[in-house]
Amino acid sequence: MKEDVTRSIAVRPAAGSLGAEIEGVDLAAPLRDWIIDELRQALVAHLVLFFRDQNLTPDEHLRFSRLFGPLTRVPYVKHMDEYPDIIAVLKEADERKISTFGNAWHSDFSFLEAPPMGSVLYAKEVPSHGGDTLWANMYEAYDALSDGMKRMLDPLRAMHSGRPYGVAHAPSGVRTSRSIAIERENPQADREVAQPVVIIHPTSGRKALFVNEIYTTRFEDMTEEESRPLLAFLFRHCIRPEFTCRFRWKPGSLAIWDNRCTLHYAVNDYDGSRRLMHRTTIAGEALVGAM
Ligand code: SIN
Repeated sequence: MKEDVTRSIAVRPAAGSLGAEIEGVDLAAPLRDWIIDELRQALVAHLVLFFRDQNLTPDEHLRFSRLFGPLTRVPYVKHMDEYPDIIAVLKEADERKISTFGNAWHSDFSFLEAPPMGSVLYAKEVPSHGGDTLWANMYEAYDALSDGMKRMLDPLRAMHSGRPYGVAHAPSGVRTSRSIAIERENPQADREVAQPVVIIHPTSGRKALFVNEIYTTRFEDMTEEESRPLLAFLFRHCIRPEFTCRFRWKPGSLAIWDNRCTLHYAVNDYDGSRRLMHRTTIAGEALVGAM
């Protein structure tokens, strides 16, 4: 293997709030320990990392993902038969006016007792334009709240459930993609799980808001109706443009994000084009609240 002389990778911030493009790393090659360390540190600092022009087999994608932790299989989404740790996120060119996977602001599978640590999304085929993904920084969303609101939210817990996915959030009268099989009536996804509204991130030790419009249904011990006004404010607040970044995919682009301190949103604006992504999910741990 060629000797590294610089002992540093290029990390270029992609927006003011979060996201960084990493240059000079070929993810198909076995990575040296110091590069792995720098990538892990960059993920903690920037929350989502982007790589361009990668040429990965599914096995290389899996190997890279495992550098950040063991992989997990998530409920209600069908994984690939040949690679059961990969989800093919697909919308075919002839699938028009459908609701697509991830097309609302969310943190992945936040209704699990141990929500995923993160995900690695690799672009196989993308439209010539459209099909971008956005992320939002939930540390900054928390930091920007007033002291009074922080004091009120810090001890709260909220209920998360996979039940609304694709139902409450699918635009009315449209069907979900036939290209990505979503299983309904899954007891592991449908039950409610309480999560802290403000978490202490297990690596950075920083406080982050942990609510999202797909899965957070209400505050613990409150009704949905009682919870709605404050949740609606938080959902709007979290995605203020200054807390976000947007990534334009090309074939061979890859993104890895931390699921505990970000939300993401897959933009469904490419009817008539095929978009195929391969996604792995990195296992997480139960989240600890601010109080
Ligand atoms: C997701 O993981 O939510 C899908 C993201 C995307 O397809 O851009």
